[in-house]
Amino acid sequence: MKSMLKMSKRKLKTAVSDIKSVNTTPSIHDFSEAEKNQFRSLLLKWYDEKKRDLPWRKQALNPDINQRAYAVWVSEVMLQQTQVATVINYYNKWMGKWPKLQDLAKANLEEVNELWSGLGYYSRGRRLHEGTKKVVEELGGEMPKTAEDLQKLLPGVGRYTAGAIASIAYNQVTGLVDGNVIRVLCRMRIMGGDSTGQAVQDKLWSHANSVVDPERPGDFNQGMMELGATICTPKSPSCDSCPVKEICLAYSKVEQEKQKSAMKILTNNNNSITDIECLADTCPLCFQQEDMWEPSNGVENYPRKGKKKAPREERTDVCIVCRRRQESKDEYLIVQRPNKGLLAGMWEFPSLLQVEEAQNPTDIILDKSCGASLQTTGKSQHIGEVVHIFSHIHQTYVIQAITIEEGEVTLNTEQPPSRWVSKEDFLECAVSTGMKKVFKAFESPLSPKSSNTKNKKTANKPDDKQRSISCFFKPKVSS
Ligand code: ADE
Repeated sequence: MKSMLKMSKRKLKTAVSDIKSVNTTPSIHDFSEAEKNQFRSLLLKWYDEKKRDLPWRKQALNPDINQRAYAVWVSEVMLQQTQVATVINYYNKWMGKWPKLQDLAKANLEEVNELWSGLGYYSRGRRLHEGTKKVVEELGGEMPKTAEDLQKLLPGVGRYTAGAIASIAYNQVTGLVDGNVIRVLCRMRIMGGDSTGQAVQDKLWSHANSVVDPERPGDFNQGMMELGATICTPKSPSCDSCPVKEICLAYSKVEQEKQKSAMKILTNNNNSITDIECLADTCPLCFQQEDMWEPSNGVENYPRKGKKKAPREERTDVCIVCRRRQESKDEYLIVQRPNKGLLAGMWEFPSLLQVEEAQNPTDIILDKSCGASLQTTGKSQHIGEVVHIFSHIHQTYVIQAITIEEGEVTLNTEQPPSRWVSKEDFLECAVSTGMKKVFKAFESPLSPKSSNTKNKKTANKPDDKQRSISCFFKPKVSS
């Protein structure tokens, strides 16, 4: 019995060491030490020559470590899901208004939403604001000083943002993975498995942490993101100008295929060219089916995303109430959304979700959204439909409008807050991009409320104004 136990222990040890050796044996998806060094020097040289002049890069040189971290934090939060070109103006305005984290901590959410208006994903701004309040009120004005603490202590700071702040502002040797880095690394190491899945994500983080330059981690990380944004783009990447093409396996594989087809060698039989491929029988980092590789897509075969859940369909009735004034400009009724959930605290025209696609009448929309009631016999007009895509909702706004004279409406001054604004105020205040599109549809010359609609060319079917307006407001993903 004793010897049997001993035997099985030994066998167990061997089995465990086998597993370990399988997991630690370098595969095609790994970087050798030489490749890591090459990657660092090629990327940093390119970054030093080609990096874009972006406002947050100057702010990141602030000698005060806390303000430097704050400046990087703001930029990285804004850059999530938003293009650099869009962020620049918002960033400059933000840093002009709240140059120090203490300034933002003193602001109110209304001002934050106002400045964030149009950037989408509004919870990002709210969390940033909450975070600075926490730094001031609970952490004595000191930003957490490591990636781990940043992630643990600040609301809305995940692994990526923590890595960015720590590497760029503190020079901590830590990697990061965002959409650009996913693309660069999946291509460099031919990883065709689902890039949102655990196996590829783990490998990406492990690569990011091991390739990062120990002397210049912030520049290296920004270099990888910059490479993904400007050269290693999702469509039509500029491989010829890529500084790391000599260590990019996707590039080599595509070049090899070109060479093979030029030589009309379809198989590897003559051993003159060794295929660039993973040799493991089953590899979670590779394409999960043979036919996933599409030769005409070249390096764009990587990365591969798993299927996204379809956004849910919603239809919302929106009522634009326009109040004519004797001596001044027209005004519009807006209502504040609840402080929790989608577009928390933002302002909108009175709106009501449709249940089972049944349109809500004007008086019900006004009553249920803000407790307003009309004393007018005027009829509302159907304006059209506008589609706005949030990350998880395909929203159709069904717009109606009604014009009233002063005194023809009674507002419930209790909850939720509501107010009258001029067109200029509406465009400046904390309203979402979806609501701005609604207003644009209302103001469009194609809108039925426009008296000269008949003289304008209608875009689609002349008998279908709803369509003709809707088609002018192409959906844009946002939240
Ligand atoms: N994308 C997100 N953050 C970035 C940064 N700091 N530099 C370049 N691209 C980025």
